[in-house]
Amino acid sequence: MKLMYDMPQADKQAYDAAVTPDEKLMYCIPFNILEDRFVSGWMAFTTQKIYKILDGSILAVWNIHQMSDFKTEVMYGSCGFYADIDGHTLLLCQFVSGRNLPRYTVICKACEILNETNDTTPVEDSTPERFCPKCNRPYISNSTVCPNCLDKKDTYKKLFAMTKGLRLMMCIPFIVYLFATLFQTINPILQKHAIDNYMLKAGTGEHINKVGFLLVVCTIILIDFCHRSLAVIQSRASAVAGHKFILIMRTVLYEKIVSLSQSSLQRKPIGDVMQRVTTDIAAIQTFIVGQIPQLFGSAATLIISVIIVLFVKPVAVFFIVIPIPLFLYLMRLVWKLLWRRNHRQWLVCTQLSYFLQDVLNGIRVVKSYGQEENTIEKHEKTLWRASDQVESNLKFTNTVMPLLSFLLQLGNYLVMFYGYTLLFNQDGMTMGELAQITTYTSLIYSPLTAFLALPDTLTQFLTRTSKIFEILEEENEIADIDLPIDIRIEGNIHVKNITFGYDAYNPVLKDINVDIKAGEMIGIVGHSGCGKSTLINLIMRLYDVNRGEIIIDDVNIKHISQNALRSQMGVVLQETLLFSGTIRDNICYAMPTATDEEVIAAAKIANAHDFILKLPEGYNTIVGEKGYSLSGGERQRIAIARAIIHNPRILILDEATAALDTETEKLIQDALNRISEGRTTLAIAHRLSTLRNADKLLVIDKGRVAEFGTHAELLAQKGIYYKLVMAQRRMATSLNKKKDTEPSKEQSNKVSDPLPSKA
Ligand SMILES: Nc1ncnc2c1ncn2[C@@H]1O[C@H](COP(=O)(O)OP(=O)(O)OP(=O)(O)O)[C@@H](O)[C@H]1O
Ligand SMILES: [Mg+2]
Repeated sequence: MKLMYDMPQADKQAYDAAVTPDEKLMYCIPFNILEDRFVSGWMAFTTQKIYKILDGSILAVWNIHQMSDFKTEVMYGSCGFYADIDGHTLLLCQFVSGRNLPRYTVICKACEILNETNDTTPVEDSTPERFCPKCNRPYISNSTVCPNCLDKKDTYKKLFAMTKGLRLMMCIPFIVYLFATLFQTINPILQKHAIDNYMLKAGTGEHINKVGFLLVVCTIILIDFCHRSLAVIQSRASAVAGHKFILIMRTVLYEKIVSLSQSSLQRKPIGDVMQRVTTDIAAIQTFIVGQIPQLFGSAATLIISVIIVLFVKPVAVFFIVIPIPLFLYLMRLVWKLLWRRNHRQWLVCTQLSYFLQDVLNGIRVVKSYGQEENTIEKHEKTLWRASDQVESNLKFTNTVMPLLSFLLQLGNYLVMFYGYTLLFNQDGMTMGELAQITTYTSLIYSPLTAFLALPDTLTQFLTRTSKIFEILEEENEIADIDLPIDIRIEGNIHVKNITFGYDAYNPVLKDINVDIKAGEMIGIVGHSGCGKSTLINLIMRLYDVNRGEIIIDDVNIKHISQNALRSQMGVVLQETLLFSGTIRDNICYAMPTATDEEVIAAAKIANAHDFILKLPEGYNTIVGEKGYSLSGGERQRIAIARAIIHNPRILILDEATAALDTETEKLIQDALNRISEGRTTLAIAHRLSTLRNADKLLVIDKGRVAEFGTHAELLAQKGIYYKLVMAQRRMATSLNKKKDTEPSKEQSNKVSDPLPSKA
């Protein structure tokens, strides 16, 4: 997001005159409301002060270091930027909400960092802009594509570059279309010939030559057959070329999306990425292989028809042209109205599908709160709105379009009127010529609507294409270096003074130092949100650290190829995701060549074998999207089997046993202990009993390493870990007491003692 704008000359001069030499400009962002009127002012933030500038003069200056508690507040239709000075909260400036609110939110954080650390490096924010900086219009949602300002030439060039290897194939439909058009425009000439020379004697209606007439009719049929055959060849050639082109585009796009870093993928809504891969590409395909050759053919038909009419009866062209300007003007108006109406219809239909998606995803919540009737009512309301809009749009189109085509038909009537006048007066017009001219008039009029829609169609096409190029050109934030190293990981991990924030200015982990030896099991504990999962994300290099380095076996992970790094890591995550497919496929996901025996052995170690055998089709049971048909614990056991079969050098368990009951957890814990032998294991767990075999425990608190040592050492410190252990011990004791008073409960379900046994 842009935090440094260029001020206009007058404002810049005022700023230059006020600023002292030891100040450095860090940020400059606009404000646009002053005392209830719209203005165009600037807030300039230097290393020491804030300058409020409007129309070439400085309205106010504040010393940042005397201010605190920077904040933004959303008011009715506008927002305010506030800070505390001398115990009072002061409104520094106001601005229209939406465009600049995220900017001021980052600035609040930046001012606080400046005050706390005196660090004068400007913060950078990766949040994408939502409005085009050139024209101020909003970007197409979830993209940085502005249909108004996009570089059309550049987009065409990129698109042309993508057609490499297919150009000849893509030219064929055009060439065939040209010939098809020629055949189409020859027919009216033959019709004229048949009427005038063989069917009727001009002016008398007397038949002259039946054989000749039949021959001409046969030629007409033959030419029509050729025209239609060429049209078939053209559409088949288009389908082949289009399909090949789209295949390439989809493959390249998919490869790019999969290779994008976790952080950039997280910024994109899944629905939007899917839309680009499916709908946008399909629309591009339709345009390239369907609409472009058609427009080309229509243009050829129009030009050839006008030329022929000019040769036959030049004055007729005048009558043909008369209704065209009015038609084009009205059609353009209707088009605009239709576009707005269709947009409204699209919005309301999208709302309907979002609503359905929401309800179907959360149907368990809907049912458990007894909200079925409520959702039916809401659905009905949205459905009615959608149906009203669709109905109204249909009525509008079905009324206006016939009226417009009647207007165009008037041109045809004028030509006929002109033709009949000449015919009756025997003034140089034959019956055949009249039939020929009216046929050409229809051929001239038919592509007009398509040409009129061309600017909109082109803009839509270019916008969709730009959205795809936006992804294709996105720089990969986590890329391999030029010659990455493929090492065999032993498992020594050295986390050296790392600081990381999903937004660099808002660190989640600060100055983390940890030394882990190969083969050690490290338990990571801490309150929810303290940064445990973030730390393992960094070790897996799903994100790059902002400062410091992570070293595995003496090599910075940035120098190890991502493939080598991740193929030697096994993870069981907090959220277990199973892909659509059989249970067997899911277990051997990272090792597709695994034998049945290996799959079963892994499932047995993960204590999943027994429940899998009870399923209707055992290992061949299909698990749906996210494995919904299985329980949380069952899914987690499959994920553990997946990690086991992968045989990783570094095993990462992020709440891997959280969804298991105490009894199953004990069984799995034994399995995990077995598989963690001889390999470095990082295990995150809230339930401390899970970490009873950890060699060392790493306690993270507020993004920093609070404690690191063995269980005994940490207990002796009587710090955070000690408190956590005591709290869980108290809870376990009280729960077990409660269970002991209920005789029906089985002894085996007792909550385990959180105290790890290995110290
Ligand atoms: N992708 C993300 N983008 C922005 N912020 C994030 C992202 N993931 C996590 N955070 C934030 O980073 C902080 C640490 O999150 P993290 O997931 O590492 O916590 P945790 O210690 O694993 O918590 P828990 O025990 O609940 O799993 C949280 O404040 C969280 O909101
Ligand atoms: Mg977590």
